[in-house]
Amino acid sequence: MRLAVLISGAGSNMVAIAQACADGRIPAQIAVVISDRADARGMARARELGLPVALVDRSRFRRDGRLDRPGFEAALEEPLRQHQAEVLILAGFMSVLSADFVERHAGRILNIHPSLLPAYPGLDTHARALAAAERRHGATVHFVTAELDGGPLILQAAVPILGGDDIASLSARVHAQEHII
Ligand code: GRF
Repeated sequence: MRLAVLISGAGSNMVAIAQACADGRIPAQIAVVISDRADARGMARARELGLPVALVDRSRFRRDGRLDRPGFEAALEEPLRQHQAEVLILAGFMSVLSADFVERHAGRILNIHPSLLPAYPGLDTHARALAAAERRHGATVHFVTAELDGGPLILQAAVPILGGDDIASLSARVHAQEHII
């Protein structure tokens, strides 16, 4: 399987996937790492790993303060086609994809989300779980559908929330599980 891993940030999940592919735990290879941000730290990490990288800079698709989503998504298709990607992995990719895009790749887009979905879709999941005094939190790998963080679940990992946890300690505990699942 040829994977495209889409990132916007640090790319630690991308690195975990690359390692799992390299040592045979995932029967796949990363065909391309795509970032929607020029300053994503994960781009440098991908280059260090010798992976092909492509930048589809989202900021270039802003028109009058709004995202030209069809233009941005058409540009995203180029590296996918060029590198013959079969499965798309959203690993900290912070752009929401349109229903059209998701349907074109139906059943072939996975996302990693830092909560035990269906609890806490969207942003700031660690802060919200702490504010709600949850005792458990975690991460979910799921298929992507047009509904934000709403597609069928594939795998989850739970962690305890401990007394004295803050966002940093909790997100580190969740991140470690993300890298496994
Ligand atoms: C992770 O917490 C992931 O669940 C979320 O974005 C973060 C990406 O982290 N979707 P990294 O860039 O893989 O380190």
